[in-house]
Amino acid sequence: MNQNSFLRLGGIRDVETFRNYLQELHISIPCDAKVLAGDTSPLGQPLHRGDVVLGNRFAIQPMEGWDGTSDGRPTELTFRRWRRFGASGAKLIWGGEAVAVCHEGRANPNQLAIGPHAIADLSRLREALIQEHERSVGSVAGLLIGLQLTHSGRYSRPNSHDRPEPRILYHHPILDKRLGITDEYPLVADREIRQIIEDFQRAARVAHEAGFDFVDIKHCHGYLGHEFLSAHTRAGDYGGSFDNRTRFLREVVMGIRSLTPGLKIAVRLSAFDTVPFKPDPQSSVDGKPGRGVPDSFNALLPYRYGFGVNPENPVELDLTEPAQFLALLSRLDIGLVNLSAGSPYHNPHVQRPALFPPSDGYLPPEDPLVGVAQQMQATYKLKQQFPNLTIVGSAYTYLQDFLPHVAQGAVREGWVDCVGLGRMVLAYPTLPLDVISGREMQRKQICRTFSDCTTAPRAGLPSGCYPFDEHYSRSKEAGQLKDLKHRSKARRE
Ligand SMILES: Cc1cc2nc3c(=O)[nH]c(=O)nc-3n(C[C@H](O)[C@H](O)[C@H](O)COP(=O)(O)O)c2cc1C
Ligand code: SF4
Repeated sequence: MNQNSFLRLGGIRDVETFRNYLQELHISIPCDAKVLAGDTSPLGQPLHRGDVVLGNRFAIQPMEGWDGTSDGRPTELTFRRWRRFGASGAKLIWGGEAVAVCHEGRANPNQLAIGPHAIADLSRLREALIQEHERSVGSVAGLLIGLQLTHSGRYSRPNSHDRPEPRILYHHPILDKRLGITDEYPLVADREIRQIIEDFQRAARVAHEAGFDFVDIKHCHGYLGHEFLSAHTRAGDYGGSFDNRTRFLREVVMGIRSLTPGLKIAVRLSAFDTVPFKPDPQSSVDGKPGRGVPDSFNALLPYRYGFGVNPENPVELDLTEPAQFLALLSRLDIGLVNLSAGSPYHNPHVQRPALFPPSDGYLPPEDPLVGVAQQMQATYKLKQQFPNLTIVGSAYTYLQDFLPHVAQGAVREGWVDCVGLGRMVLAYPTLPLDVISGREMQRKQICRTFSDCTTAPRAGLPSGCYPFDEHYSRSKEAGQLKDLKHRSKARRE
């Protein structure tokens, strides 16, 4: 099977055909026949809940660009991206991008990091975004801007894009092998965790001083915060019981509240995982990666290396602990939650459903719409249990031309409070504004999930929409990316 077996959504012109296709796949998600604009638009409605006030229901997801300086400062490309986020019209800016709380915790040597210039740099980034928002929307009312704080843990590469320097909380039998981690490789010690907690607290203070409304204590995508949640096999204060696995979060929050009272705290969570996937050796022909299959896990049952998965069958979801986690967030008075899933490294089809895989990926194991629906349905189940939390949903980009229809249905039916946009805004930054104001969709700008924005950074190049954003399509890096894709194709043939 190859990706051409799945219907290309770009070839469907009307929503009725799309709805029929969903039915054929037995996918049940809301999808409105007509997208409304202006005062009647569900996506244009403001939201007031507790101390959260939002002017509309679109959120921009955090997205790194791999374009900071080696000492973690933004470049003109970073500013450009943030200005485009501002121009989108979305009223919730969830983090801008992951900013490392310390050098060792950077996922790549071009990730932004909290250093000596961070207050000035971050405040200029925020200002640039606000100015552009005001210019394109006419008002900054209801605009809420957060900063995503991260430590990359297992996926740290602070000094060179091709030199992993993993900081791990426990030995993962599948991922350790993939990263060349031996049994003797040291775990992050409890005392080092306490240091990282202090780094998060200091970084939150910096964000506050730079003017951000909230910080996101990142708990998703296989990075450190997320790895705590599956640290079942870790001994000591930060592993084992649910209480211990969430101690990191509680201690970060406690410290921020005492050091920086008045700063809102939010959390982005991978609400469920699955086992790491790999190309199926049976269908990988002449070096071409086959469709994705789960790595072998039968010898690992009950599976103790995941969060939000059924330990007896870890390719199945179990939302019991994620619900417990949201209950904890409620108790901690954290009202703003962004739900994502999986990891871009070891199960990208779950985290960012795509028709065309990134260079280190595999062909889609299922119609990517299944991945979209899985995230939407998990989010809906959790939203039903926690109506008082303001919840942002993820992974809508694959819906392409029908994103507005599904997003509107999801908000209207209460599946989610806000619809988060990732790749779509890299390709088509003004989609939210076009939808809310009833302007025709720019079909030529719609992200078709070619995955260049994921493949480029894998090769140490800046991330961006190479097919549709002319800054990247005309850059010298576009040539390098093309060569790289040719070379890997030639190697495979
Ligand atoms: C280039 C790129 C960079 C990303 N960087 C981050 C990040 O810094 N923090 C984060 O939480 N998610 C990050 N993500 C994931 C997105 O926020 C989002 O969850 C994902 O792309 C799925 O949403 P979509 O279908 O709208 O693209 C990134 C995604 C892409 C494509
Ligand atoms: S490179 Fe552009 S078209 Fe391709 S997945 Fe990224 S945003 Fe979409």
